[in-house]
Formats: sequence, structure tokens, C-alpha cells
Amino acid sequence: MNIFITGATGVLGRPVVQSLVAAGHTVRALSRSEHNAATIRSLGAKPVSADLFDATELKQILVGSNAVVHLATKIPPTAKIGRRTAWLENDHLRRDGTRNLVEAARAIDSIETFIYPGYSFVYPDSSDNWIDASTTPTHSSAILQSTLDAEEAVAQFAAEGHRGLSLRMGSFYGPETPDPLTYARRGIAVFPGRSEAYLPQIWVQDAASAIVTALTEPIPSGIYDVVDDEPLTRGELITVMAQAVGRKHLLHPPTPVMRMLTGVVYDVMTRSLRISNRRFKEASSWQPEIPDARIGWTKLAQTN
Ligand SMILES: NC(=O)c1ccc[n+]([C@@H]2O[C@H](COP(=O)([O-])OP(=O)(O)OC[C@H]3O[C@@H](n4cnc5c(N)ncnc54)[C@H](OP(=O)(O)O)[C@@H]3O)[C@@H](O)[C@H]2O)c1
Repeated sequence: MNIFITGATGVLGRPVVQSLVAAGHTVRALSRSEHNAATIRSLGAKPVSADLFDATELKQILVGSNAVVHLATKIPPTAKIGRRTAWLENDHLRRDGTRNLVEAARAIDSIETFIYPGYSFVYPDSSDNWIDASTTPTHSSAILQSTLDAEEAVAQFAAEGHRGLSLRMGSFYGPETPDPLTYARRGIAVFPGRSEAYLPQIWVQDAASAIVTALTEPIPSGIYDVVDDEPLTRGELITVMAQAVGRKHLLHPPTPVMRMLTGVVYDVMTRSLRISNRRFKEASSWQPEIPDARIGWTKLAQTN
């Protein structure tokens, strides 16, 4: 298969490209700089210079592709995560970038599949009830509206007889992400919210294998949840993290401090989301290598 990918240099993009290349696919990846191009080549793919906001250019570079994987994103750094303005570039990338890429893909007859990874955090707080893609997302968070708009663009692609899949993913963690145990090693718990609230997570290699599965297996168009098998509550996660770094307890910063640090994302970061991956597993052969965060955080602590 001839696959075009955006976001190839990111945390998710790198293992996705490596897996696709190892499986014998031809991968061309959007590049924004010489540094990007060097990384893309080192992963075994071909860099293609393009601007996601130039519709004409996108149509030209997609010629000959069979599938598009759109992973580009611009999540603000932790220090700015609470400011609404810090999310505007991400909104533009998701809403307008996805729309442009879908429009371009619609113009190329050889493109049959479009894959987009959204966020699990679009669901409303659901306490300890199991939820999945059949649950109506909430539109209460301005920073998540653009990911729902991107899913809508993918659904339009699918409505024309193509395959369009949006995979709502939990928070990534794993050896490819910036060391998530940094704060735990200093004795601090970084998860805001009540201890009985569930947090959706996914080992980043398992997120990558879900993308590859979505591309290569005949899974019907639609929205699927890509999270680990057993979601844990924040209380359980904090206990697991403390054990992983050899501490008895982790300190919780007081709620007003967490509210101040997380600003516009506080509501999103504190929701209880007990999400099931059942639908994606029933539609495919995908199995997460790391079934839950007890195993994942322990493995991570041993390897870091
Ligand atoms: N991280 C998570 O916990 C998480 C959870 C659920 C879903 N997701 C989704 O998974 C996908 C990948 O996330 P990630 O964590 O791998 O992101 P990441 O590590 O931040 O990588 C972002 C990628 O997007 C590219 N990019 C940024 N701005 C761009 C622009 N204007 N035009 C084109 N490309 C641009 C970056 O390229 P440069 O190298 O040039 O900057 C990089 O390759 C995203 O759709 C994200 O929403 C992530």
C-alpha cells in the first residue's frame, strides 16, 4: 500500500511509520523542515514538503496514494496548557488541516482509506459507568471541539463510499513519551481530579499498532475507542505510580493549585471516563500488548 502520513515525527508517528515500513508498505510523510526530513528518512519513509493549509499543494502530493493517516497535532507545552490561546494553533490544525486533507483525498480516486486519531476526552463525565463510541460526546470544552470537527470531516469522506475511521485514543504513555514518571520520582501525583475518577490511557506502541490495524484490516468506517483493556481510577494509578518509583505515597497538589495550573483543561482532565475498547477489538485482530497501567507503569519504571 502507498500511504501518506502527517505527524510522522511525533510520538505516535514514529512507531507507526516504522511498523508500516517494516511491513513492506511505501510511506511518504509530510515534512516541514530539513530536520523533519532527516527524521523521516531515518524511519525508512520518504519526506514530502507540503503545507497542510495549501489545498492545491495537498492534491498534488497525494497523487498515487491509497491511504492517508493524519496524525499532525500541536498540543501546547505543559506550562501553557491552561491558556485558551495556546490551543488555537492546534484547533486550526485539526479543524482546517483535517478538512483540507480530506478534501484533497476526495479528489484522488486511488485513496480508499483515511485514518484520524481523536481524543477519548470528548465524552462527558460518566462516573463508573462503561462508555464507548455509542456515548454522545459533550461539546462543553472549546479545546475539544476541533477534534469533533475533524471526525466530522472523516465521516464525510466515509459517506462517499470510502473507508474513514476516527480512533478516539486515551492518553499516551510509554518509553517514546517524555518521561511521565518525572514528577512521581519527586513524590508528586500529577493527575488532577477525584481519586475514584477513571483516566483513559494507552501504551503508545499499542496506539501505533491500532493505527496500523485500522489501515490494513477491513474494519468498517466509523468511530472506535483505542484505550487499554482495564481503565484504572486516578487513585489506583497514583498507587501504581508510587510503587513503580519506590515511594509509599505521592503528594496531591491542592485542588486550587491544580485548577490554576490546568486552567481551560481542568474540566477535561478531571472527567471520569471508563472507556471500553470492545468495539475496536470485535472489529479487528488488535490486542494491546500492555493491557493495563499496572503492568505499563511498572514496565516503564524498570526501563527508565
Ligand atoms: N499524546 C497523547 O496523549 C494523545 C492522546 C490521544 C490522541 N492523540 C492524538 O494522536 C496524534 C499524534 O499525537 P502525538 O502525541 O504523536 O503528537 P506529537 O508528538 O506532538 O507530534 C505532533 C506531530 O505533528 C506535526 N505538526 C505540528 N504542527 C504541524 C503543522 N502545522 N503542519 C504539519 N504538521 C505539524 C509535528 O511535526 P514537527 O516535528 O514539525 O513539529 C509532529 O510530527 C494526534 O492526532 C493527537 O491528537 C494524542
